[in-house]
Amino acid sequence: MDFLSQPIDPTSERDLSAGGLRLALVDTTDADAFDGWIRADFRGFHSERPKKEVLEEARGYLGGRRTTGVYDDAIPAQEPVGTVNSWVAPLTVPGGERVDAWAISSVTVAPTHRRRGIARALLGSELRSAHELGIPLAILTVSESVIYGRWGFGPATYATSWTIDTKRVRWAGTEMTGRLSFTDPEEYRDTAEGVLDRVMAGRAGEIGLETYLAHRLTGPLKGDPEADKYRLVRYDSLSGEPEGFVSYLVKGDEVDFTRHTVEVNYLAAATDDALTALWRYLLELDLVANVKVWTRGVDEPLPALVSDIRGAQVTSVQDHLWVRILDVPAALQARSYERDGSLVLEVADDFGIADGRYRLTVTDGRAEVAATDDATDVTLPVNALGSVYLGHDTARGLAVAGRIQGDADALDRLFRTAVPPRLSTWF
Ligand SMILES: CC(C)(COP(=O)(O)OP(=O)(O)OC[C@H]1O[C@@H](n2cnc3c(N)ncnc32)[C@H](O)[C@@H]1OP(=O)(O)O)[C@@H](O)C(=O)NCCC(=O)NCCS
Repeated sequence: MDFLSQPIDPTSERDLSAGGLRLALVDTTDADAFDGWIRADFRGFHSERPKKEVLEEARGYLGGRRTTGVYDDAIPAQEPVGTVNSWVAPLTVPGGERVDAWAISSVTVAPTHRRRGIARALLGSELRSAHELGIPLAILTVSESVIYGRWGFGPATYATSWTIDTKRVRWAGTEMTGRLSFTDPEEYRDTAEGVLDRVMAGRAGEIGLETYLAHRLTGPLKGDPEADKYRLVRYDSLSGEPEGFVSYLVKGDEVDFTRHTVEVNYLAAATDDALTALWRYLLELDLVANVKVWTRGVDEPLPALVSDIRGAQVTSVQDHLWVRILDVPAALQARSYERDGSLVLEVADDFGIADGRYRLTVTDGRAEVAATDDATDVTLPVNALGSVYLGHDTARGLAVAGRIQGDADALDRLFRTAVPPRLSTWF
């Protein structure tokens, strides 16, 4: 899909120009212009000022995204005061299909220009552009959970963080069948992309990764102050099939050499054998007292893999992937369902993109969705539809909070999946 040549959104362009600001697509082949945008993006997330090699690397990785800036021409700076980029990512949905999703990232507004409606214009522009391109939904991961509900996004997957006290637990899982070995990110990256593609295709909520997002998971990018601490271990089946890897850092304890902490950058497992072998490897490392890991699923099987459940503690459960439905029939027909049934949904969307009354009929797991005038079974805002879309168990809670009216149990039964959705990385 040629999303790069989608023109700038005239509504947001007009709104910003009324406030003396200019909305523009950034020519990512113009190094000076793109560097200015990248610097603004780094500043927006309080990152270090990027050095030349970091800018060069970022230009190489990110040039394929649709890149938008907001400029205040009254100030003599190359950096925009607002940034966003977007691309079409394959989102895995229940049943295993991959659906084109409008992935949005790098939403920043300069602190000098905050709360003047710049983010509103950027998000409006993204949603209208994606809708015009016929893309059924938009997705993002968020720095703060209070921002995106107003634009119709709802939290659709949750991520867990864990700390495992490895001096306390013993391995209680299966024996390893394959092989573990150290490898080097440069050497392993192409293989890793294949493993990651299997991982991402295997669970609703995961997205197919661009090279940039994949490389972040195998090892450090340029400019990482801890680059030399990364270790990469691969898992291959007995027949030599690459099935997983773990990228991690080991950090020392100030007083006790036997109590290092392992921080997992990413654990990729395309099979249960790979998952258990890599977990066992981490939990049995000598001179290590704690293993910390982030962005695992809500069903991470760690409690079953250790002898002492309380030795593996969930340290946070947090909303992770946010979904914004743009085309109700296309989105609901793209996934499959574990039970058959029929429901009339009244969807409210202040933005005027997805609202309407729809009958969803599921037969043999596949849906048909059409506009209807029949009596409504469930009334919900579009962000609640985004929240239930990937199968997570949120319908009943939203009903208790008064955000879904009608037969929330029926909605839950139809949408929920036995395996909860997961997104195991940030974008
Ligand atoms: C989040 C951010 C992009 C918002 O930009 P902004 O231009 O100040 O936002 P807007 O002026 O368009 O605000 C639109 C609405 O969102 C609200 N809003 C914006 N950011 C918010 C925040 N962080 N918390 C709560 N509400 C927020 C505004 O109050 C406004 O609400 P209203 O419609 O009720 O008036 C900006 O604060 C920022 O760059 N933050 C740091 C980087 C970041 O966290 N980006 C998000 C990445 S996922």
